[in-house]
Amino acid sequence: MSTRAIWLVANWKMNGSKDLAQQFCHRVNAALAGVPASVNAVLCPPFPLLPDAVLALPGNARLQLGAQNCHAEKEGAFTGEVSATQVKEAGCRYVILGHSERRAQFGESDALVLKKAQAALVQGLIPIICVGEQEEDYKKGRTAEVLKTQTAGLTKLAVGSYLVAYEPVWAIGSGKTPSGPEISAAHRQIKSALGSETSVLYGGSVKSTNLREILGVSEVAGALIGGASLEPEGMKTMIEIAAEQV
Ligand code: PGA
Repeated sequence: MSTRAIWLVANWKMNGSKDLAQQFCHRVNAALAGVPASVNAVLCPPFPLLPDAVLALPGNARLQLGAQNCHAEKEGAFTGEVSATQVKEAGCRYVILGHSERRAQFGESDALVLKKAQAALVQGLIPIICVGEQEEDYKKGRTAEVLKTQTAGLTKLAVGSYLVAYEPVWAIGSGKTPSGPEISAAHRQIKSALGSETSVLYGGSVKSTNLREILGVSEVAGALIGGASLEPEGMKTMIEIAAEQV
């Protein structure tokens, strides 16, 4: 029997509504019934929608919740920020950290992402740490170099305590994806830097029509899904596809 675990993580970014959060939770959690336990599904909505998601889910829900960010400090004068403790208290098990949009828009560095991951781990959260090269680096063949830099500090974290999401920045929201061999090479590099037990997800224009091919790359432990995760039906299809692979 295969022991492959697969994570499907819905990153709603700054999208969605209370209604959609409730509908998504009902439908996607129902779709998980009967699916092998090694298929993990996680919804990461904007912070204000977390209570709606919690209310829509039964206590023993298969669908887990995550946040899209947390602050590195425990508490204090950080207007507009949210701590790892608060994320945990809000019902989250996961937290996405170092997404390329945050790196680009809010100047998050590898060092800051590491501090956030450490703060999240103290609270028992599972960080999903995003790495990936810009289009220019990809075109110049510098993907390996970028991944080496971005993963260097992560060796300070306990292997297996966090997930990594390899998201080439040029593939996010663009409809473009790397080839299977390119995804495989990036994932192998990340695993060899961080330990072979590190689960590495792929992200960037994942949808129900390309998920099977992406999960066909043996090193891929799931997907971080942006745009396509706003459709509960599409998410259900993706769960069915993941269930075929475990
Ligand atoms: P996308 O976004 O699936 O819309 O490309 C993925 C992400 O940014 O996590």
